[in-house]
Amino acid sequence: MMIASPPSSRPLVLLLAAVQAAAAAVSFTVPGRVNTGGYQYAPLDPAPVGISFEFFAFPSYFTNVTATSQCLSNWKGLTGTWPPIRIGGTTQDRAQYDAATSAYVVYSVSNAADAPASLTFGSSFFTLAGTYGGSVVTGLNRGKNNVQNTIDAAKVAVAEMDNLLAIELGNEPEYWASAGQPIASGGWSPALDAASQNNWDITVGKALGKTGIIQAGNSNDAPPTWGAAELIATENATVKQYVKTYAHHNYPGGSVSSLMSHKGIASNLHVFDADVEAALGEGKPYVFGETNSVSGGGAASVSPTFGAALWTMDYVLRASYSNISRTYFHHGTVGNCQYCFWGRYSMGAPYYGATAATALLAGASHLAALDDGSSAYASYVSFAANGTPLRVLLYNSDYYAGSGTRASQTFQLSGLAATGTVRAKRLVGDSALARVDQGGKVTWGGQTYTDGSCKVSGTETYETLTVSGGQVAATLAASEALLVYLQ
Ligand SMILES: *[C@@H]1O[C@H](CO)[C@@H](O)[C@H](O)[C@H]1NC(C)=O
Ligand SMILES: *[C@@H]1O[C@H](CO)[C@@H](O)[C@H](O)[C@H]1NC(C)=O
Ligand SMILES: *[C@@H]1O[C@H](CO)[C@@H](O)[C@H](O)[C@H]1NC(C)=O
Repeated sequence: MMIASPPSSRPLVLLLAAVQAAAAAVSFTVPGRVNTGGYQYAPLDPAPVGISFEFFAFPSYFTNVTATSQCLSNWKGLTGTWPPIRIGGTTQDRAQYDAATSAYVVYSVSNAADAPASLTFGSSFFTLAGTYGGSVVTGLNRGKNNVQNTIDAAKVAVAEMDNLLAIELGNEPEYWASAGQPIASGGWSPALDAASQNNWDITVGKALGKTGIIQAGNSNDAPPTWGAAELIATENATVKQYVKTYAHHNYPGGSVSSLMSHKGIASNLHVFDADVEAALGEGKPYVFGETNSVSGGGAASVSPTFGAALWTMDYVLRASYSNISRTYFHHGTVGNCQYCFWGRYSMGAPYYGATAATALLAGASHLAALDDGSSAYASYVSFAANGTPLRVLLYNSDYYAGSGTRASQTFQLSGLAATGTVRAKRLVGDSALARVDQGGKVTWGGQTYTDGSCKVSGTETYETLTVSGGQVAATLAASEALLVYLQ
């Protein structure tokens, strides 16, 4: 891109700003059809953006947090499919089924911000999960080494949930030795866990009389030590028939600027390439069963920010592009959850990023990334079932912390229909550090989501971009994203 010479009378500070803002355009060619142009294409799940609920907190989210149903239904409105959910987490291995209780969950904590050290749950837990319109993966206990209790619970889950997609047998087993879980008392390792998973998959699957019912893996420590490839290598055909999906957990952590860096996101996803390939090699989907920005409920200085929202958006798109079928963003203790998209009283900025990603993927059958993940600038294209490009998402991951000049980057798209106009919707925040739960401004297409209800507010705003010679240019401020609608 040419930089126009400024009039000599222009103050130096403006000249510098102009030079800064006018970095060379990044150019991408949008393929006219899926599976062309030398790009890689990932087939898409109907709703790749999902939510994970911490086991003990699930009934509270579904009965006592008003925003839950609206936040999920906003995405159903975009995609036509209820977002997939997963129920599980550390407290699934602290939970025991109690056929005698009519309560969803029974536990006590000295502080409402705590997760319970042990709990029981009744059949109504699964009746409640069965009311959800989307698919549900539920986690059950393996850590306590009480397989009969888990079978009893699994039978109720199958009976009560027409929407049951799969059952996990244990959460993040690599931490069980240090957590003092009974099953790890005689020693624990990836190999011992794999042998245990395999036996439990067969025992529980047989008791249910169901194949294709287990979501296997569920580790958090990075592959290859713990992961799908390591697990699959230990499985024979008997075990494999009970496995529906392979899952891993991921909490990349870091600072806001490192988290939202597109280059960082792309390299974080490459950690899982071999595991994804191993799962797909078995003809089984690979998912992020539990994930979010920073482990342990999130970091106050990172997880609630607009930068984390941009991470959420780019991360789930890069995961989908990497053939990770579904990404379940974890929601922990109500009222003590830095990375939550919503809570009882306030919205979290990350919901906006997840919504922008959902809008790109809505109704699409394939996704391509046009960039190679080596720069700060991302571009994704979604494709309709008829093979035509639906939408392009552009992301400028340069970090803007809120002071000084906000740089910008021009993106040039070519390969479009020769002339005309396209509409676009912008994801904007005051800065990468803006927090909607602290009064910071974040908007998606000019709209906001209301605290406490998750109802959309404000006028939906599109901008119009002019296409000329099959090309269109758009300028994105640092820490900003734009969704261009080609149809
Ligand atoms: C719902 O939330 C409120 C506010 O935290 C709490 O006092 C109440 O006990 C909760 N009710 C249930 C059924 O969880
Ligand atoms: C398959 O593996 C399981 C344990 O993982 C074992 O119990 C079973 O005997 C094996 N089946 C065959 C046919 O080798
Ligand atoms: C994802 O899977 C498709 C086949 O379904 C393959 O063509 C593509 O290369 C894979 N993507 C990546 C990034 O490996």
